[in-house]
Amino acid sequence: MKYVFGNWKMNGSFDDIKKFKKEFFSLKLPKNTKFGIAVPFVYLQKMNEIFSKKCEIGVQNVGFADFGEFTGEISAKMLEDTKAKFCLVGHSERRHKFGETNEVVNQKLLSLQKTKTKAILCVGETKEEFEQKKTKKVLKTQLEKCLKNVGVKNLIVAYEPVWAIGTGLTPTAKIVEDTILYVKKVLNQIFGENEILVLYGGSVKPENANALLKSKAVDGALVGGASLDAKKFVEIGKNIA
Ligand code: PGA
Repeated sequence: MKYVFGNWKMNGSFDDIKKFKKEFFSLKLPKNTKFGIAVPFVYLQKMNEIFSKKCEIGVQNVGFADFGEFTGEISAKMLEDTKAKFCLVGHSERRHKFGETNEVVNQKLLSLQKTKTKAILCVGETKEEFEQKKTKKVLKTQLEKCLKNVGVKNLIVAYEPVWAIGTGLTPTAKIVEDTILYVKKVLNQIFGENEILVLYGGSVKPENANALLKSKAVDGALVGGASLDAKKFVEIGKNIA
């Protein structure tokens, strides 16, 4: 089984949802692939009503506290209440555009773990760190700090090189495989034997999905731009099924 999770980021409208629905339901979904889409909070309910039987609907962020004086934030309990199946945590845009630290990501994961909503923890190195061959060191630190006191249940990890997100650039299939094997090794050190899925994300398109994700080590993809187009999104699933 492979998993394809979309991330709509701050895109979409009720009109776009209508168009996506029409196209998505006209396509035959591959049997060996499970789909999910992380949508903006305000579309969660509508998307769930339409897609929940064919595709898990989740969100892109969560507040770090359980409740209280945090104007504008949404808690993990609220996500559970509104039936978000999963939540991205520590996406590189949250880290780099909103200053989210590993410590904040850790608090968000701990809060989510009190609920039934799955967490997809995103980790990845910058271009500079990649060029300086620091990828493994960066990933190990991110994983250890973000996962401090976090349990193994309801957890997925996505390896997303920051320099590959939205740029059209990707690592080679060999680097993706090796890095994901390394992430799995660190997860084993933290949790012992485990079945945590590890996805790859960063400029995944129908054209490169098979090459990037065919390794057994890679459990699936986290797809940004291409997930806004139902045809491309399903095509990615077909190409890796
Ligand atoms: P991209 O985004 O597929 O547009 O590169 C990936 C992500 O942000 O998860």
